[in-house]
Amino acid sequence: MKSLVTGGAGFIGSHLVEELLARGDDVTVLDDLSTGSVSNLAAVRDHPRFQLVVGTILDPTVVHGVVSGCDRVFHLAAAVGVKLIIDDPLASLRTNIHGTENVLMVCEETGATLLLASTSEIYGKNEADRLHEDSDRVLGSTLKSRWSYASAKGIDEAFAHAYWSQFGLAVSIVRLFNTVGPRQKGRYGMVVPNLVGQALRGDPLTVFGTGEQTRCFSSVHDIVPALIGVIDNDATRGQALNLGGAHEISILDLARAIIRVTGSSSEIQLVPYDTAYGDGYEDMRRRVPDNTRAHDLVGFAPRTSIDEIVRGVAESLQSTVDRSDWTMQQARPHASTTVIV
Ligand SMILES: NC(=O)c1ccc[n+]([C@@H]2O[C@H](COP(=O)([O-])OP(=O)(O)OC[C@H]3O[C@@H](n4cnc5c(N)ncnc54)[C@H](O)[C@@H]3O)[C@@H](O)[C@H]2O)c1
Repeated sequence: MKSLVTGGAGFIGSHLVEELLARGDDVTVLDDLSTGSVSNLAAVRDHPRFQLVVGTILDPTVVHGVVSGCDRVFHLAAAVGVKLIIDDPLASLRTNIHGTENVLMVCEETGATLLLASTSEIYGKNEADRLHEDSDRVLGSTLKSRWSYASAKGIDEAFAHAYWSQFGLAVSIVRLFNTVGPRQKGRYGMVVPNLVGQALRGDPLTVFGTGEQTRCFSSVHDIVPALIGVIDNDATRGQALNLGGAHEISILDLARAIIRVTGSSSEIQLVPYDTAYGDGYEDMRRRVPDNTRAHDLVGFAPRTSIDEIVRGVAESLQSTVDRSDWTMQQARPHASTTVIV
């Protein structure tokens, strides 16, 4: 089996590449190394069935070259991370819309099976008890760049669905909720590596807003087998499947767990969203997945606990040479913070 992983030098992509090689695939990665890095692929760089192509999904010729001859394509390349999206909304819109359509077009032409990595962000501010795949999308103003990622990924899904219904493209969509684990970077606003990095340095853990907002974190080690299960299952074609964590936790409790697991003496500081991301930032109080469809179709059952996740991230950060990856820069650091225990 020949597999292409776009964005394979990134956090999730690099774990997927390792798993595909272990299962016997020939694996090509297409990545522009904008947020990914060659060091993420250190374990597989010299593998005889692996090749890395440094290039962009925005170039249709490049995409054609790497998709040709592949049986399946895992499309993970994207501009990701709240901080990155707010700082550079155009990258999000261009990469995540034009780049994805390039991948869809070429897969339709070559007959490759495609998995599209989408996101729970598409549900926006819908705080329903359990978000299922047909739940409504509740997005803020188009003039708030914070929502451009959700808008772009929503368009990706609509494109994918149309390629499936109009041309019969074998495409499946996964909506990832907060996926965490080793190699994820904090500097683009990802909360777990940010807080773990702060705990390891003995810095205050900066929790945005009241900290009462909740999320369901899942380990990349639970997600990767599900990605392969979805692309290999014909019953998932033309569908979207939630892939999220099993346990809801507030960010304040997450910070407390991180302090406990890392043995840190750090305190927790509450930082207003405006300080972190600039004026008018909107966030959702909770985001809880209904994983029933993924469970029924591919047996998805996330098992890794928050403590295990934190331990894995801490070990990964401690072995990282470039520590600038650890923590994001805030828009106005140290303004209006509240210290709590
Ligand atoms: N990590 C999460 O919690 C999460 C949640 C929801 C969805 N996702 C989705 O999962 C996928 C992987 O995300 P990740 O967390 O591993 O992020 P990541 O930033 O580590 O990976 C994205 C990869 O895409 C590459 N890339 C960006 N623009 C590109 C371009 N124009 N051409 C080629 N490569 C390009 C980057 O260099 C990087 O290696 C993304 O599609 C993302 O939207 C992730």
